[in-house]
Order: sequence, then C-alpha cells, then structure tokens
Amino acid sequence: MSNLSNKNVLLGISGSIAAYKSAELIRRLQDSGATVRVVMTKSATEFITPLTMQALSQNPVHTELLDEVSESAMGHIELARWADFLIVAPASANLIAELTHGRSDNLLTAICLATSSDILLAPAMNQRMWLNPATQENVALLKSRGYYISTPEDGDQACGETGPGRMAEPNQIISLTNTLFQSDLLTGTNILITAGPTREPLDPVRYLTNHSSGKMGFALAEAACSAGAKVTLVTGPVNLQTPRYVVRYDVETAQDMLETCLEHAPSADIFIGCAAVSDYRPKYRNSEKIKKTDEFFKLELIRNPDVVSHVAGKFERMFCLGFAAETHHVLENARQKLLTKKLDLLVANDVSNPEIGFDSDLNEVSLIWHKGEEKLQQATKTVIAKQIINRLAALYIDSRN
Ligand code: C5P
Repeated sequence: MSNLSNKNVLLGISGSIAAYKSAELIRRLQDSGATVRVVMTKSATEFITPLTMQALSQNPVHTELLDEVSESAMGHIELARWADFLIVAPASANLIAELTHGRSDNLLTAICLATSSDILLAPAMNQRMWLNPATQENVALLKSRGYYISTPEDGDQACGETGPGRMAEPNQIISLTNTLFQSDLLTGTNILITAGPTREPLDPVRYLTNHSSGKMGFALAEAACSAGAKVTLVTGPVNLQTPRYVVRYDVETAQDMLETCLEHAPSADIFIGCAAVSDYRPKYRNSEKIKKTDEFFKLELIRNPDVVSHVAGKFERMFCLGFAAETHHVLENARQKLLTKKLDLLVANDVSNPEIGFDSDLNEVSLIWHKGEEKLQQATKTVIAKQIINRLAALYIDSRN
C-alpha cells in the first residue's frame, strides 16, 4: 500500500507538449491506489484530448468554469473540496504566473485558489522561459506560499533547444507525492486514538448506537502514522480498512473501549478521543430477545464512563485531544469542554449541517486550545486530519519544552 492508497487526486493539466506524459501519470497514480479526476485548461485540450483523459481516469474530465451543466454536476468548489491532493502537471509558465497572482479566470486556477489541499506543480516549458527571472521569481513566491515543485529536468526539448524545463517523469512525480504525505513531526511518539461509534446492547439482537462512521478517527490514525508516530487505534464497529502500520483493537461498548484504552494508555504520549461514545447504555442487558408485549416499552438507561475524561484525568502528563460534535453554540460549548475534560486541544464540529461530519467524507472544524483557535475550511477528512496532526504536533512539542 502506498501513501496514495484511497486518496482523491485532482490532476490539473495546462497547455504544454508535456501533456502527453500526464496520460502515463494517471495510470501510475491509479497503480498507487489513488482515484483520479482531471481538470484541463483550454490550451491543454489542444495538446491531448479530454476523451483520452476521461478513458484513462474513468471519470468525466472538467474543463469549464462557467458552464451550467458542469457546475451543477461538480463545480469548482466541490472539486476543490473533493481533492486530498492536487497535482498540476504540466504546469506551464502562464499557469504559474496566473497562480502567483491569484487569478481564477479558468477552472484550474479557480480550484487552486479555493482548495485547502496541498498542491504540487510539475513545471514544463522552454528552457529560456524556465530560466527567465519572471518564472523563477513566480516559482519562489509560490514555494514560499506552500506550493510544492517537482523541479523540471535538463535535456533535449521539443522546441529543439537543450536545457532545463522538461517536465519531471511520472515516476518521479509519484515518489515526490508519496514523500509529501510523510513527515517526522511526531517521530518517537506513541499515539492512542479512539474511533467510530460504540454499541450498547439491550438483548442478544438489539443495541443502541449512533451514525459515526469512524472515518475521521481512521484518517487521524493514518495522518499520525505519516507524521512518524506509532499508532494504536481502538475502534468501535466500523466498516473501514486499517491504515498501514496502525495497530488496531476492535471493541463494542463504551466500557470495553475504556478498558482497552486504559491498558494501552501507560505507553502513550498522546491520546486522541475521536470516538462517538454512547453517553448512556441500557441498565439491563437481557440474556434473551425481548418480546413485544405491551403497547409501550420503557427503557432504563445509565451513564457510560467518559473515556477521554478518564484517560486525561488518570494520565495527567499525556497530551489529550478531544472532539465536540455540537448542533448549537458550537464554540462556547467546545471551550467549556476543553476545560471540563482537561484537554490540551479540542476539535469542534457543527453537526447541524448534514452534508459534513457524521458519515460524510468531508468535514469542517474549528481547533481550540488554551491560547488560541483556528478554523479549518471544509475539506476531505484526509486533509482535515493532516491539518489537525500538524497543529497537535506543534502544541505537543511546545508543551514538552
Ligand atoms: O461530551 P461529549 O460527548 O460532547 O464529548 C465528546 C468528546 O468526549 C469526544 O472526544 C469523545 O470521544 C469523548 N467521549 C468519551 N466518552 C464518552 C463521551 C464522549 O470519550 N462517554
């Protein structure tokens, strides 16, 4: 499994003869497990047809910014949110100049401006255009704003000249992309993460649960691993694949979750409580299936232990992150929870919007800690997880100094 496995990669193609290499790049991305969608500028379509790219990517190719049909199907904002990662290959001198100035008059530049995901540019152009101070300064400025650049190669060019400006080969772009999903921010740390819902049985066939899919907790486990941490994931019943290198324990009830966490917490430096733990459980668990008899059925519930509070209270030196899913007064309630649950960082999400949060691939959250807060724009859970891990790592390192 590569770091690109199950990732949504948006491939932007601008006008350059190197566009033929993008066909190969789609294949290599798919071999790495990524789902690919393609956006082409008008001049890119002069070099290679959208039909070729559609056949290879197995998805419709997007070319128009102001087009009713395409905007209603998947518009520039949806595409910007859909992408876990953006690759612009080839990135022409003109496209680079447009990005430098924050222009958004075509679909590709509008997406680059609207996304919260990382962007990798693979420049391709004539060697004089590449070496021109205008291009060099544009690239330097984009780098300083967080763009990644796959440096073009030196060699024979389609125009007959020789020099730097040949687009990097697809395999090089893939290996660079793979490394961008990795860092050593949390190397040497052990992280314990809870994920998913819990199931609280009433009898052998029925239980109380909630809509949590576990996607956010699993995305955090993967992001923490990619940042170099050793990750132990304690999860309620979910239908998800265990991320590479993550040690997983499956549990059902809140009590099972607490016991498993307490067993692994002594060796953990950081605890992330992402599970949607049932606050209550049936007071009695019938050993036989409950029969329907009367018109009304009264169910008595008792409080479950609060996993994150227990762990944070018992292991005071551990850095603890909790979640707060709220439907109203989101930030006030979240700030309160940061204090009452003795947490170092809290991720608050407004679950009143059914499009994001529970069971969705997207999320939009605010991070709250004792000395600050940050709002993260709507993006995939993979992108949000990476941003949470980056903030957590900075605060964790700070707390140890
Ligand atoms: O109090 P509330 O349920 O909103 O708090 C949410 C946070 O507390 C999440 O981090 C969740 O994982 C954790 N929690 C827990 N055990 C519970 C209830 C919530 O660990 N019983």
